[in-house]
Amino acid sequence: MTEDRGSLAGRRVVVGVSGSIAAYKAVSLVRLLAERGAIVDVAMTPAATEFVTPLTFASLTHRRVVDDVMALDADSQIAHVELAEGADAIVIAPATANLLAELAAGNAGNAVTAIALASRAPLVVAPAMDAGMWTHPATQRNIETLRGFGHRVVEPEVGALASGLTGVGRLAEPDSIVEVVERLFARAGDLEGLQVVVSAGGTREPIDPVRFIGNRSSGKMGVAIAEAARDRGASVTLIAGVMSVPPPRGVSVVDASTAAAMRQAVLRSASGADVLVMAAAVADFAPKRASSSKIKRGGGDLQIDLVANPDIIAEVGEMADGTRPFLVGFAAESDELEANARSKLRDKGLDLIVGNKVGGPFDAIGSDENKVIVFGAEGELSDWPMLPKRQVAERLWDLIVDRYRKAHAPERPERPARSRRR
Ligand SMILES: Cc1cc2nc3c(=O)[nH]c(=O)nc-3n(C[C@H](O)[C@H](O)[C@H](O)COP(=O)(O)O)c2cc1C
Repeated sequence: MTEDRGSLAGRRVVVGVSGSIAAYKAVSLVRLLAERGAIVDVAMTPAATEFVTPLTFASLTHRRVVDDVMALDADSQIAHVELAEGADAIVIAPATANLLAELAAGNAGNAVTAIALASRAPLVVAPAMDAGMWTHPATQRNIETLRGFGHRVVEPEVGALASGLTGVGRLAEPDSIVEVVERLFARAGDLEGLQVVVSAGGTREPIDPVRFIGNRSSGKMGVAIAEAARDRGASVTLIAGVMSVPPPRGVSVVDASTAAAMRQAVLRSASGADVLVMAAAVADFAPKRASSSKIKRGGGDLQIDLVANPDIIAEVGEMADGTRPFLVGFAAESDELEANARSKLRDKGLDLIVGNKVGGPFDAIGSDENKVIVFGAEGELSDWPMLPKRQVAERLWDLIVDRYRKAHAPERPERPARSRRR
């Protein structure tokens, strides 16, 4: 693990400022970020320049402030695109009610919204507004939309507002906002040094050279888990079954389109892995014999004998302590999700199991979103709302990292008991 986790040194942070009375607090925020070593660029909406001048920010950062979406930089490049592409993180503070609505709608009419839309860097918004604006269903819906995009929201605080009233809507203190930005980068490296293996997609069990028994798994959930692990610093191997999405860049890919190939690939990589996440939908049954030539239509019906495939995850679960990776399984269940997930966890020696419902009004298979419940040995750990699969992956890694680190923390010698202070 790197020692300077969470450090802002050398990170490129874009601070977006919008037209709130709290814009003056963005000055402190920029100073704090710069003091911690971040390279800070400031973008402003036209309304924001009514509250604080670009000159203030330019003097603090020694960099040009982008307050015009049409502006070119010194090299005649489009200034907002340059900032969007170079950013390691974007923080919009204060974010007005209007700006939240524009972000939720995907507008790009000013420098701040254009940067936010063009960039793939993590984005933090710190809203500031009158209590009525904050509690309005439109604003709350916009906040939920932004959370759904994967953006982080630093909730406003309760206090005296510009209107003279007291309520919720006050911009969070710059210190708290900096803390959220630091945590963003701490998380970015929390899997450094770990070997992670993820299986994804479905399998196809051949009947003859052209036919197979398969399933509708798209591989999206496993790919999101592999991508998130890669972005958090792990060395990732993706054991790819049949997938409808491309494997992510920057991970090793082992193709395994049948249950037998999947078993071989998993067992081969499991002993060197720190964490194994089995998100693939591996066929439980396969035709007893695959015909080497295409089966012809005859006069009557065709009967295919199916035999049970080996239980790959249970085999990994039986590996000796010390060689067995931290093991995470998935349970896709149409009925009795909780009971089935819990017994799978117990019977197969898993550390965590992610349960998702299939076959109902919402079907996780093939979808870009998922609604999962996670169980550990002690019972239910999390019941998350419907989230984009990447968000599910991030939350799952938060849980895994926490448990993995606790299980592998070096044992500390017991301290002698201290006398109690009076
Ligand atoms: C003195 C004053 C203070 C304001 N403070 C806020 C505020 O804290 N939050 C907010 O959402 N709007 C506030 N507004 C309204 C916004 O400035 C207005 O909605 C503007 O269009 C926002 O533009 P922007 O989102 O592009 O920056 C304030 C307006 C005035 C005149």
